[in-house]
Amino acid sequence: MDRSLESKTAVITGASHGLGRAIAEQLAALGAHTALIARRAEPLNQTAEAIRASGGAASVYPCDVSDAEQARATASAIEQAFGAVDILINNAGVPAPRSFEETDISDWDAVIGINLSGVFYLTRALWEALISAEAAYVINISGTAGLRGGGSPAYGGAKFGLTGLNYAIAQAGVEHNIRSTILYPGGMDTGWRGAPIGVLPRRETMDPQTVATMIAQLLTSPPEFVVNEAVLNPLAYPFM
Ligand SMILES: NC(=O)c1ccc[n+]([C@@H]2O[C@H](COP(=O)([O-])OP(=O)(O)OC[C@H]3O[C@@H](n4cnc5c(N)ncnc54)[C@H](OP(=O)(O)O)[C@@H]3O)[C@@H](O)[C@H]2O)c1
Repeated sequence: MDRSLESKTAVITGASHGLGRAIAEQLAALGAHTALIARRAEPLNQTAEAIRASGGAASVYPCDVSDAEQARATASAIEQAFGAVDILINNAGVPAPRSFEETDISDWDAVIGINLSGVFYLTRALWEALISAEAAYVINISGTAGLRGGGSPAYGGAKFGLTGLNYAIAQAGVEHNIRSTILYPGGMDTGWRGAPIGVLPRRETMDPQTVATMIAQLLTSPPEFVVNEAVLNPLAYPFM
């Protein structure tokens, strides 16, 4: 059995559903101790129980990453429990109103707060713990909206901003052997925006498990190089 992440600590945001849950399950299966973050405790506990039932290790940290104080307190609790943090997956995200005219200020603040500011709050608060690891890895989950925008100012704005933040993390990480990668997935079969799960063929919507496998491959790659960006799309919709 592949236990290549044995003794690593992996913090995953948005770990109770969709891509975040798939990532948490795969990293735990590779031996990592997973620290699971999302706002609601109950779905998080379900993820943790599924991981433990498969022989993995998981701890839950209910937290709204868009609240700087909650992010700081959660980072502090994780640091106290584990010391170093080897892996941070900034995955938590929410959709936004699709058009400029539908977007009001509260939509803007909420979506920028979760999809962009939350990444900074948690990464900044965990920075010392990431430095303490031998060769930490930060993965930021964007989306193809982070490459071509689209109609939603808040979602596109947050994901474009995340590109800048990713490269700032990468630059700051060089002297500490911290790598940072930004992933731009296209459509995934996670029920995003209330879409039914398991209906579309795989060539039209990606299985989040497949994307999680890609992420596990990045995390287990040799530490002396970095994949800066990766664009992943279902076969039917190549990025153009
Ligand atoms: N699904 C797609 O087609 C698609 C395509 C491109 C990019 N993406 C990106 O991929 C990422 C994951 O998407 P997904 O489809 O897996 O989402 P999802 O199934 O809706 O799950 C979102 C997760 O984030 C958590 N979350 C939401 N707001 C949070 C907050 N303020 N603080 C902490 N946790 C929070 C949710 O739990 P709580 O609600 O309990 O907090 C849940 O665990 C997102 O960044 C998204 O933008 C998705």
